[in-house]
Amino acid sequence: MKPSATRAGICLFSITFCAIALGDAWRSDPSVDAKVQALVDRMTIEQKLGQLTQQWGGLVQDVNPEARQRGQDELDALVREGKVGSYLGAHGAEYINRLQKIATEEFELGIPLMVGNDVIHGYRTIFPINLAQACSFDLEGIERAERVAATEARAAGTHWTFAPMVDIARDPRWGRVAEGAGEDPWLGARIAAARVRGFQGKNLSDPDAVVACAKHYVAYGAAEGGRDYNTVDISIPTLRNVYLPPFAAAVGAGVGTLMSAFNEINGVPATACPLTLKTVLRDEWAFEGFVVSDWGSIQEMVAHGYARDDADAARLAIQAGVDMDMSSFTYRTHLADAVKNGLVDESVIDRSVKRVLRMKYALGLFDNPFSDPDTEKSVTLCHEHRDAARALARQSIVLLKNDDKLLPLSSDVAAVAVIGPLAESKEDPLGTWATIGKADDVISVLDGVRERAGNSIKVLFAPGCDVRGDSTDGFAQAVQTAKQADVVVMVLGEDKEMSGEGHSRATLGLPGVQLDLLKKIHATGKPIVVVLMHGRPLAIPWTAENVPAVLAAWHLGVEMGHAVTDILFGDANPSGRLAMTFPRGVGQVPIYYAHKNTGRPPRQKERYTSKYIDMPWTPQFPFGYGLTYTQFKYDNLRLSSNTIGPAGLLKATADVSNTGDVAGVEVVQMYVRDLVASQTRPVKQLRGFKRVTIEPGKTVTVEFELFAKDLGFYNSDQKYIVEPGAFKLWIGPNAQEGLETDFSIVKNSAADTD
Ligand code: NOJ
Repeated sequence: MKPSATRAGICLFSITFCAIALGDAWRSDPSVDAKVQALVDRMTIEQKLGQLTQQWGGLVQDVNPEARQRGQDELDALVREGKVGSYLGAHGAEYINRLQKIATEEFELGIPLMVGNDVIHGYRTIFPINLAQACSFDLEGIERAERVAATEARAAGTHWTFAPMVDIARDPRWGRVAEGAGEDPWLGARIAAARVRGFQGKNLSDPDAVVACAKHYVAYGAAEGGRDYNTVDISIPTLRNVYLPPFAAAVGAGVGTLMSAFNEINGVPATACPLTLKTVLRDEWAFEGFVVSDWGSIQEMVAHGYARDDADAARLAIQAGVDMDMSSFTYRTHLADAVKNGLVDESVIDRSVKRVLRMKYALGLFDNPFSDPDTEKSVTLCHEHRDAARALARQSIVLLKNDDKLLPLSSDVAAVAVIGPLAESKEDPLGTWATIGKADDVISVLDGVRERAGNSIKVLFAPGCDVRGDSTDGFAQAVQTAKQADVVVMVLGEDKEMSGEGHSRATLGLPGVQLDLLKKIHATGKPIVVVLMHGRPLAIPWTAENVPAVLAAWHLGVEMGHAVTDILFGDANPSGRLAMTFPRGVGQVPIYYAHKNTGRPPRQKERYTSKYIDMPWTPQFPFGYGLTYTQFKYDNLRLSSNTIGPAGLLKATADVSNTGDVAGVEVVQMYVRDLVASQTRPVKQLRGFKRVTIEPGKTVTVEFELFAKDLGFYNSDQKYIVEPGAFKLWIGPNAQEGLETDFSIVKNSAADTD
């Protein structure tokens, strides 16, 4: 494999792209290429197609022991015959070692299997869902979470994770917003790179590294109506400026694989799209890893109305550059004939086989295909991993409201009522895609509160209702329970099946009768803290208006109860900020801070402006928003210069003071706006953020570097351009507030530094 000359040439966010690139950590050297070639030279076409086939291991999950054994025998036979290159859905060192033994000792070419799994937010130690993690704005914490996941997964025989999911998501109806980093490409790009670094570690052959897979390539999050798998019809500049940057960042960080998405993009399925799979990925980004399809996405091109039949779909996908077929077996079934009939050149197959084999070499599987069951036992769910999960869970919680400083709970509180259908749940905090996560590992919110309260605070409990049901039978008992307490903590929201794949919602409020329950408890006059457990931004206007304290606590993983309790009792100060806008109502979506201005910018009281007549156009809580138990004040915004050249660097600085009584973390955010451009630009774009801890009474000077190169955009000709002109710049606590100043990009400025 030759080193890429053009990788550094990725334009959008180019400076940071280079800065975060890990280099060629997962790539192999020419001596590996020689071994790969020698192996390919010995392979039959069927054996080659075997390497391009990913087999689901679910057959062996049958509850009937005989069917299970039959399933296992069938799978073993496929491995023995070299018809499987990769396995999905197989877990555990012992089980996978047995398969590897068949692959390396009984398959005549002895090629080890590459086992892939959905290690999305933790392996056995389940961390907060990814959207929650993004709210921490803590790149190191996120990277650490993936190190933990990789350590556990690799020890248990998994070599490859189908993560990070880096789809930008601006429609909370889409259930898969839970798996991504939210609405913003700048934040999303940085998180994508952090996750790749975390999973892949220093060297893929290390016993604590897995190869990452950036998915779903691309624009899956732009599904019409927020309905999963739905049509995507977006402009090329939007594709380039919004949806591609996190993938570019993942490639820059050295990601080894990508997954092609289910959706079509402007009439062409992403699984056969020459623009994204070839022009962008291979030509512009010089990506040398391999692309796997999503589950059945090759075969689904028939239903899309793009391929005539499975054989046609297989041909289209391999020719577009999808190297491996996940689960639909179209390659294994049809491509030998396609080669024989001259429809597909064998060199196209060889190219893909080489990419897959190179990855197996990079993973060290030819040297040692096995994992160590003792290591698996010692690392799985160990104390250190739980501690990391608790720390990130705490940082993922966003304090949305805290009237009269109801939180942290006062030390005078003698009795707490914990109410709500999710309070006791040990299943739901796992969230979507907690593949081998177990409810028994989870600390529920009720467990956490009871543990922290000990003997000094009385803890009462009533579920009140189900998450989704319509029975109000439990209301009376819940009201009675609330009346006996000094404060009520209500744990409300979505169960874990309400977000994730195939779980889009057309409504965004509290499901079932939960809002009615909340209103009943509110009527008691007791102070209420609502702890939301959820997989997406919710529309909660009544709660936001009437309840004094609200925490967006998401599905936080195995340490949920501890993390929530840390915040409730003030053992930790909330530091999360929203990575995705909270709407007031479902009719506002898609809603995101980086919208365009339009020719008639919204003015609530003016008739002919871009707004609604029955609801404000503004969000309930904006991107970047979150409160703490202290207050911060911003002063003295200054720039190193008021002009820069198209290759220049500007420094923007502000003083941030902690004016409260406790130490706190402020996520200082820098936004810009290009006022006039040859294509209209968003009203604000995040271009920097820093988490800073500030002691009470202290002031910290926060400095951002802003490269003019990062102020450009892709136009309709797919060219990345940085245009001279006037800009606004803000430094502040969220996308709606901040100090404001102006600067300009000018041609040939003396301020150019490179
Ligand atoms: C389908 C999902 O879209 C994808 O994210 C996942 O990795 C695969 N199934 C494998 O489980």
